[in-house]
Amino acid sequence: MVDFRQLACSLLGSLLFRLSPPGCYYDFRRDVSKSVVIVGAGSAGLAMLKTLLDLPVETRAEWNIVLYEQRRDIGGIWLPDPSPPPPPKLPETPLYPLLHTDTPVPIMTYPHFPFPPGTPLFPTHGYIERYHQDYATHYGLWPYIKLNHSVVLSSWVGTPHAGHWELVVEDRNGDRIQKSFDHLVVAAGRYHEPHMVIFPGQDTWLENNRGGLQREILHSMWYRNPSWYANRTVVVVGGGPSGVGIASQVLQFAHRVYLSVRSPPREVPLGHVELKPEILHFTSDGAVFTDGSTVQDVDTVLLATGYDLRVPFLEEGGEVIVKPGSNETDGHKLATNLRYLFPLHQHIFSLSASYPTNALAFIGLPRSPYIRSSNTAQSIYATSIIANGSLLAPRAELLSELADSEEDLWRRGYDPYYIGHKMVNNSTFDYQEGLIKTLRSKEGLPEQNIPFIEPWRRESLDYLSGSLKRGWKRLEVLGLAEEWLEGVESEDEWADLMRRVNAWQRDWEAVHHLVFPDDILVYS
Ligand SMILES: Cc1cc2nc3c(=O)[nH]c(=O)nc-3n(C[C@H](O)[C@H](O)[C@H](O)COP(=O)(O)OP(=O)(O)OC[C@H]3O[C@@H](n4cnc5c(N)ncnc54)[C@H](O)[C@@H]3O)c2cc1C
Ligand SMILES: *[C@@H]1O[C@H](CO)[C@@H](O)[C@H](O)[C@H]1NC(C)=O
Ligand SMILES: *[C@@H]1O[C@H](CO)[C@@H](O)[C@H](O)[C@H]1NC(C)=O
Ligand SMILES: *[C@@H]1O[C@H](CO)[C@@H](O)[C@H](O)[C@H]1NC(C)=O
Ligand SMILES: *[C@@H]1O[C@H](CO)[C@@H](O)[C@H](O)[C@H]1NC(C)=O
Ligand SMILES: *[C@@H]1O[C@H](CO)[C@@H](O)[C@H](O)[C@H]1NC(C)=O
Ligand SMILES: *[C@@H]1O[C@H](CO)[C@@H](O)[C@H](O)[C@H]1NC(C)=O
Repeated sequence: MVDFRQLACSLLGSLLFRLSPPGCYYDFRRDVSKSVVIVGAGSAGLAMLKTLLDLPVETRAEWNIVLYEQRRDIGGIWLPDPSPPPPPKLPETPLYPLLHTDTPVPIMTYPHFPFPPGTPLFPTHGYIERYHQDYATHYGLWPYIKLNHSVVLSSWVGTPHAGHWELVVEDRNGDRIQKSFDHLVVAAGRYHEPHMVIFPGQDTWLENNRGGLQREILHSMWYRNPSWYANRTVVVVGGGPSGVGIASQVLQFAHRVYLSVRSPPREVPLGHVELKPEILHFTSDGAVFTDGSTVQDVDTVLLATGYDLRVPFLEEGGEVIVKPGSNETDGHKLATNLRYLFPLHQHIFSLSASYPTNALAFIGLPRSPYIRSSNTAQSIYATSIIANGSLLAPRAELLSELADSEEDLWRRGYDPYYIGHKMVNNSTFDYQEGLIKTLRSKEGLPEQNIPFIEPWRRESLDYLSGSLKRGWKRLEVLGLAEEWLEGVESEDEWADLMRRVNAWQRDWEAVHHLVFPDDILVYS
């Protein structure tokens, strides 16, 4: 058995405050063996692995901890796949060469692990890729990571009270091995299954290619290089960050770019992108929009229509049922309606009646601009509960808690089955803090009044508006960026940099009477 007080002391102490909370003591009792498997080495899987390893060595001495990653390296979506296969075969990541982060790096961090000095505030993707490598090295994660290993199937073998996960894992040579684990942690990411939209008449339009350029409809997951669209007339569908970003890039090469959106985009693309409402249908010659307007000379349609929430290796064994648009489960299986995976306790633990409530955990489902902080809070929660399943109330209670929170969302005007794992109304902080608070209260640890969310991170919500990004761009254009980055190392210094750049830009915009829509990025 694990000594939970020791575990909590270690987690809360070393992870959060780097000091020993009152009431902690060390006990060298050994734990029974346990096996935990993590699927995926993106930011979520790495956070979970690090947190498990933060358990006192005495506690996890006999635990078997393995992380399987199907790709050649760690990093998840931030690890490039420069030459994706043609559809329908999926690229390994939607990452494209010109991608910069659209959130400032100080907020993209794991707690207490800032980016290296000199990192631009809105860097290219390579910096994020290196950050994950540094994290894995710094915390000694590599020995636990098995690269080039894809989990193709996972099924529960046992009763609702005891059993194990039977995994089938495939290596690059196609060789399959079978492994069993007590606990399965899914950190497989949410941007791997493109959400395709099919418009009436599109096949006719595609076939009626009258010489000239080959017509095509492509999901943004395959988008890589704007020069591919030289001289083409492109319709980008979708006003999210991907759609707006891609439209702005393609613009520099394309003959013409239209952005087809349901509602006005948060960030307005730069340049001559023509906004259109949704596509109603295609004719053999072009696209017809819902306002009745048409575009005749379309060559390429890029679908920046997002991703479906799927877990193929659990669907394969029937553990997750795919029910597009549905809000119903049978109690024994998890269901995905393509936007929401349910029923889950705190967006983490499966409440399926087929296995214990701490047998299957998901890390990384909630969207948050503070994704690595969110991954960390979830990992601390999951690790504690994997160590001691009694920390969770009985399943019936957890289900009724979930129903209450869904009811609360309905009351506030949100459909939980539509928004899925999105944290509405800036509630990502409440969510993260809530997970840690719950653990603290369950453990009867003296009430800690040090918050999980650092005050600077909470304050940084203000910098998600466009002014910080515009300020940073202006510093880069003026050649001042490096100078501003000098001496910025600690988390507090990074926070201060964001504060200063933001204030500097706001002052300038005020003096020049520039008004921008205050584009908050509620994303990721
Ligand atoms: C185009 C784009 C731009 C983005 N920009 C930003 C940004 O600017 N700022 C921000 O904060 N967030 C951004 N995000 C969100 C980003 O997804 C998160 O920041 C974060 O990287 C997600 O990490 P993850 O670990 O949850 O998933 P992923 O990064 O997808 O990692 C999951 C890993 O699991 C592996 N895996 C999956 N299935 C299996 C299997 N069966 N067996 C073995 N391994 C498996 C995958 O290969 C992958 O390596 C962006 C996302 C996209 C798509
Ligand atoms: C597990 O958690 C329960 C509920 O908080 C607690 O009563 C019990 O002592 C814990 N077990 C161990 C071994 O820490
Ligand atoms: C993973 O596969 C890639 C590509 O086949 C190969 O280059 C690399 O050496 C492999 N890595 C490991 C750790 O096996
Ligand atoms: C684009 O069109 C212009 C003018 O029609 C032509 O000169 C140019 O070669 C074309 N570029 C490409 C990449 O096809
Ligand atoms: C599911 O949707 C149906 C029809 O809209 C509704 O009557 C039912 O209450 C919903 N169930 C849940 C759990 O939200
Ligand atoms: C989220 O926080 C920002 C900054 O504090 C605020 O401007 C914005 O209105 C908040 N959004 C919501 C939906 O409350
Ligand atoms: C959003 O959050 C604020 C502050 O936490 C709260 O007062 C408000 O009621 C919330 N709005 C909705 C729609 O939930």
